[in-house]
Amino acid sequence: MSKRNVLRQAGSDGPPSFEDSKNRRQRARAAGMNPNYWYAVEYDAAIKKGEAKEVIFWKESIAVFRGMDGQLNAILNRCAHRQLKLTGGEVKGCRMVCPYHGWEYDGQGRVTHIPHDLFGRKMPKFRVHRYPLKVRYGLIWIFPGDPALAESRPLPHIPELEGPDAWPCVPFDNTWTAHHSMIIDNVSDFTHEYLHRAHMPFSDAKLLDMQVEEDRVSLTYDSKIGGGKWMAPFVDQSKVKTDRIDLCYDYPYQWSNTGGKIKHHLFVLPIDERRTRAFFLFYFKALKIPMLPITIPRWVMIPVLKIANKVIFDPLIGEDGWAVEAEQEGYDACYDAPMAEINPAVHEFQKLTIRKWEEHLETAKSQPAVRIEANCDAPA
Ligand code: FES
Ligand SMILES: [Fe+2]
Repeated sequence: MSKRNVLRQAGSDGPPSFEDSKNRRQRARAAGMNPNYWYAVEYDAAIKKGEAKEVIFWKESIAVFRGMDGQLNAILNRCAHRQLKLTGGEVKGCRMVCPYHGWEYDGQGRVTHIPHDLFGRKMPKFRVHRYPLKVRYGLIWIFPGDPALAESRPLPHIPELEGPDAWPCVPFDNTWTAHHSMIIDNVSDFTHEYLHRAHMPFSDAKLLDMQVEEDRVSLTYDSKIGGGKWMAPFVDQSKVKTDRIDLCYDYPYQWSNTGGKIKHHLFVLPIDERRTRAFFLFYFKALKIPMLPITIPRWVMIPVLKIANKVIFDPLIGEDGWAVEAEQEGYDACYDAPMAEINPAVHEFQKLTIRKWEEHLETAKSQPAVRIEANCDAPA
């Protein structure tokens, strides 16, 4: 097959939809994420009592609100009446109030009060979808798919972040103008050392092993990890094996492990074909005081990590953010270009993303998601 294409230019029709393409890269770049998993959508601390926030999972707007009882709820962010966003309104007690006619919703998504004339009817039954919600690792998690599957589908389990000896961790996030598959490709593809030449978080990476099993692509690179002038002084090379890293696209999550001592998880929230919010959790068993063979005490690790996020990770991850946004711009302009990808892992990531989205579309055909229910005697 020819590998030469005439590039379509920006301003033509734009990249094809998932259904309209047979090309693997185009399908990967148009795929959503399977909703039958738990997705991190916001920080627990970001929503106080009496507050509401809009979060978006793959084009679906969700209202997350905390009632005055402290309870968090997630319901479809569309009023059953005329589909306004409920987050344009206010939280009153434990209810979300629509800004237009003031219909009130409880945490189950039921309309419990209509403050105007009912035209002689008894209170009608209206309801919007309620999403299962949990809080873990300082993050709010929502199950956007079939609620009946929520309890049997586990949230990510990170033993290092639990219990009295939990490793310190300060999550941070970025919202990038890039498809989620570009971010997954970026974080596990260690051929992009050049991008980070100023920080050198990894160098001389060689793919040592790749395993593809079920919904997981696992990789091992031989690579020098945690080098560079910013990170190296904090890593005790005598205690941490920094010449190898394991990475995994553990659908829909991504994680890494260096020597059992330096780890991270990445949780992506797909917003649409061109926007993704990415929550990063870096956690370390121990860091040392630069220039001294002394481990930083646990009790000061949280402030140290807050500074590290600003000084080390923001600039470093910012380079990745710049790259994936530039890649999105490049893809939008040249989505017809031949696939010039030589890392076998990237091919496997894309195949997994496509397969999981196909799985979802297949299920959705036979069980379309009901988001608004109206059971009233209103004339048709
Ligand atoms: S549109 Fe929400 S109450 Fe009318
Ligand atoms: Fe990177």
